[in-house]
Amino acid sequence: MTDAPHLLIAWHSRTGGSEALARAAAEGAGTAKLVAAAAEGAGTAKLVAANDVTPEALQAAAGYLFVGPENLAALSGAMKEMFDRCYYPCLGKLEGRPYATIICAGSDGENAQRQLDRIATGWRLKRVADHIIVNTDAQTPETILAPKTIADNHLAEARDLGEALAEGLAAGIF
Ligand SMILES: Cc1cc2nc3c(=O)[nH]c(=O)nc-3n(C[C@H](O)[C@H](O)[C@H](O)COP(=O)(O)O)c2cc1C
Repeated sequence: MTDAPHLLIAWHSRTGGSEALARAAAEGAGTAKLVAAAAEGAGTAKLVAANDVTPEALQAAAGYLFVGPENLAALSGAMKEMFDRCYYPCLGKLEGRPYATIICAGSDGENAQRQLDRIATGWRLKRVADHIIVNTDAQTPETILAPKTIADNHLAEARDLGEALAEGLAAGIF
């Protein structure tokens, strides 16, 4: 782990939608690195699958972007497992750090969003960007199980968010 004030992008995806959004956000954070090149280590982001996120990785990051799907009106199991595994080892150690979220859902996403915010409140994280919920319009078993293609406007939104978070961390504005 670098000592630079990096953004941790923690993601899970079952059918590719959240993964594409997380990768777009990481790309945006990379752009911020060029823009804010004057600040040493500025704009760095680490893109880590939820299963590989450790309490140490969370503690080493300066801010967070959580990206994952809504499954059965809840955060996907892998996202929840990451929080369950890391919650107590990190409790009291992340207070005040900035976070943002992207939920990928078929038609709703609100419950996963709420659940994530509850967990972040427990850690005393500070939300620094509006909720993003991307609906993929998947509502039948066939469309739900199909690989997802995320529309360009949503990928652009994710890129912008990654860039803004990385820039904000680099500039120390959060
Ligand atoms: C088991 C399962 C349960 C789901 N439950 C919901 C749900 O409660 N609400 C919703 O809006 N979408 C639901 N979906 C749809 C997914 O959120 C949607 O397909 C989303 O694009 C998945 O993101 P991903 O491609 O990153 O896995 C469900 C999908 C699966 C596989």
